[in-house]
Amino acid sequence: MDLLDPNAYAAVRKPLLEAETLPPACYTSREFYQRELSNIFLKCWNLIGRAEYVKKPGDYFTLSLVGVSLIIMRGDDGRIRAFINSCRHRGAKLLEGEGHCKAIRCPYHSWLYSTRGDLRASNGMQDTRNFDPSGFGLTEVKLDVWSGFLFVNLDSESVSLWEYLGDLDSYTQSYEFETMVTVKRKDFTVRTNWKSYIENSMENFHLPTVHQGTIGGVKAQWIPIDGAPGNYVLLQSRTTASRATLGGDAAFDRIATLRGPAAEGAQYILIYPCSVIGADLDCMWFKQMIPDGPDTVRYSAGFCFPRASVERPDFEEVVQSYHKRFDLVISEDNGISEVQLQGLSNPFSHAGRFSSMEPLVHTIDNWILDRVVGPLPMQQRTAAE
Ligand code: FES
Ligand SMILES: [Fe+2]
Repeated sequence: MDLLDPNAYAAVRKPLLEAETLPPACYTSREFYQRELSNIFLKCWNLIGRAEYVKKPGDYFTLSLVGVSLIIMRGDDGRIRAFINSCRHRGAKLLEGEGHCKAIRCPYHSWLYSTRGDLRASNGMQDTRNFDPSGFGLTEVKLDVWSGFLFVNLDSESVSLWEYLGDLDSYTQSYEFETMVTVKRKDFTVRTNWKSYIENSMENFHLPTVHQGTIGGVKAQWIPIDGAPGNYVLLQSRTTASRATLGGDAAFDRIATLRGPAAEGAQYILIYPCSVIGADLDCMWFKQMIPDGPDTVRYSAGFCFPRASVERPDFEEVVQSYHKRFDLVISEDNGISEVQLQGLSNPFSHAGRFSSMEPLVHTIDNWILDRVVGPLPMQQRTAAE
């Protein structure tokens, strides 16, 4: 089977209850993964953190996005920018980790860049002919902020973040994510394919099995929403109580500003390709994920609360109930995702079928196929007629 031939996916393109799942090779093949990098990760907006991580001018952090090392820095003009982490002289990597600086000094020959990325001092270049320092500032990458979340796009031709997200705001505005405080961050490495992980995040079918000891018994009405043409899907869980602590554990007050569906339960959001936000009645968490090969996902999870909760004198005590619930549920999801990839890697594994409880898995897989291999040639012809 040619994994990059759109005709190979006719069965995945059928309506949900007639469709097959993606063939197992899509989760294990290096060729398919390379195409995902070039057509998805190097073209889409990727979540890389929160604006509050760089509060003051000169604050920075670094990260690697599918092999591209980036510096995220707040400039002395207050703007947050993303730079390629490589000196414009002979390419040395400039910064590691996170911290604060007045200027970026290259560790190799001491070229000096401002916090806005301009080349300020180009040591040793006085005799070099036709050298114009203004053309040797750090290479900037598109960065934009949505609701306190930082996103970068490595494609300079991409649509704006606002266009990319479509009408997502209509579901999320009343949480006021931008005013929330990230109280804890935790990094994970999971031996699974990134698609398995986001599929798992957007279906409730596995809850009674995988989460039977934690959140599996909570009764809820589930409403799947495809955000197209916005690049997101959303799963609403209508419940009266927050799902962010385990039954009976101490909890904070509801977020005072919630309106509409946000006030009627939890909403789980996938912003393609793999940024997941869980918004509940009293808190919010997110996972900014990035694949590292077809068989590994790395992610940083952040846990956020309204300032009013964080300022309560009993915050540290009550927040333990939330951390306990998150740690347990995350380890259950990480575990089952690894088990799934082990099975999909079996050379005798086959494509499966979908339950009516997995509509967003089907939606996600078709979004990925649209970008990796393009539409079925027959569908293209019908659309043109
Ligand atoms: S490589 Fe940076 S100053 Fe030479
Ligand atoms: Fe789960």
